[in-house]
Amino acid sequence: MADINPEGLTILVVGNGGREHALAWALCRSPRVAQVIVAPGNGGTEDTMFSGARLRCAAVGVGDFAALMQLARDNGAAFTVVGPEAPLCDGIVDAFQDAGLRCYGPSASAARLEGSKAFSKAFMARHAIPTAAHASFTDMEAALDYVRTVGHRVVVKASGLAAGKGVLLPETTADAEDAVRQIMGDRAFGAAGDEVVIEEHLVGQEASILAFSDGRSIVPCLAAQDHKRALDGDAGANTGGMGAYAPAPVVTPDMVAEIQRTVLDPTIEGMRAEDAPFVGTLFVGLMITDNGIKVLEYNVRFGDPETQVVLPLLSTDLADILEACMDCELTPDAVQFRPGAAATVVMASGGYPGAYEKGAVIDGTRKASQIDGVTVFHAGTRRQRDDLVTSGGRVLGVTGVADDLATAVARAYEGVARIRFSGAQWRRDIAHRALPTQPKV
Ligand code: AMP
Ligand code: GLY
Repeated sequence: MADINPEGLTILVVGNGGREHALAWALCRSPRVAQVIVAPGNGGTEDTMFSGARLRCAAVGVGDFAALMQLARDNGAAFTVVGPEAPLCDGIVDAFQDAGLRCYGPSASAARLEGSKAFSKAFMARHAIPTAAHASFTDMEAALDYVRTVGHRVVVKASGLAAGKGVLLPETTADAEDAVRQIMGDRAFGAAGDEVVIEEHLVGQEASILAFSDGRSIVPCLAAQDHKRALDGDAGANTGGMGAYAPAPVVTPDMVAEIQRTVLDPTIEGMRAEDAPFVGTLFVGLMITDNGIKVLEYNVRFGDPETQVVLPLLSTDLADILEACMDCELTPDAVQFRPGAAATVVMASGGYPGAYEKGAVIDGTRKASQIDGVTVFHAGTRRQRDDLVTSGGRVLGVTGVADDLATAVARAYEGVARIRFSGAQWRRDIAHRALPTQPKV
């Protein structure tokens, strides 16, 4: 085991999912980093050495800003990276900065891009950023009138944060009325549904762009595509994401240039002009339609599981990138990728995204990691004495990296085949839109 660099940095990562494991893993690869503490972390981030750095968990929740700041201070953290959206929208970056601590991510004001869909839709309209036509309502009767008379298929969204669940896709006008009643009348997503956004239903392929910004410039990563539905063939319930791959060939180099010009640059310029400069990772969910690229949503953080495919392809130093963003010194050179492709297959608990059991013993993660090009990112896992056990819906993300996508996918599934836990479920068709034939496992 390599010695820890005594001069090396300590970095605090806030969150407990696969995204945070991937962030911690990528930070450990920086030669400047000696220690990454993940709060609260998971079974994959507990007391281990990786790439010459120490990885460990601290039992502090993502909402306890005072305890997180104390943790950062006690450990001399050079900076903190925040994974999930809720603390960002609640002002964790402002709190750290007010206390003189460095924290990577947007301010609460900039995080409104994700925290309020009504804000983000109005923002896009103000800055001519392409998105679905929409109307926002705080009055249920007005919303009902609108869906009865609008004349095209709609999508009904709770405006506030609803843990990724606040979007309903009704097929008929009657279903759309039900959707409005569910969100505004029954308050199915609580206060998140006090305001609804009703959008034109778009048809096309989706893609995810994660991009780093220092508030003035914005540099995208490789385009990724995730798989939101639970079952093969994009059937079944919506989930947090059952797998992802990158680069997504549906986003051509011409489109990358178009996205930069019509979406990324105007977003960063617009936020600066509105006195809410965006520093952090902007995640743009796009629909590629016959009428061009449209923004489905903004997220103000790294995507999960997109991060698990994008960061393993990053050839530059993540710690350097995050510092450049906080120092307002980001350049495109800082964000470079190796050639090749990556795919992540999420192994979930049986029943997810519905009810599922916890505590199943997980075997084989070490054997899977021994495969060339395979990394196992933990999400819903925890250590229980000598065992690794399940503790959440999405349990593991098995990532394969290779020179081409088909091999990356095959490696990920080879890893999956070595892992066992009771009730495990996963999709067999990750990256199917980009591959002519599907792997069989
Ligand atoms: P969101 O959380 O806003 O990204 O929405 C979740 C999912 O709903 C997206 O990934 C799309 O699959 C779908 N969706 C959202 N908005 C639209 C739209 N305007 N047209 C079609 N599908 C949409
Ligand atoms: N993969 C979608 C998300 O992170 O919101």
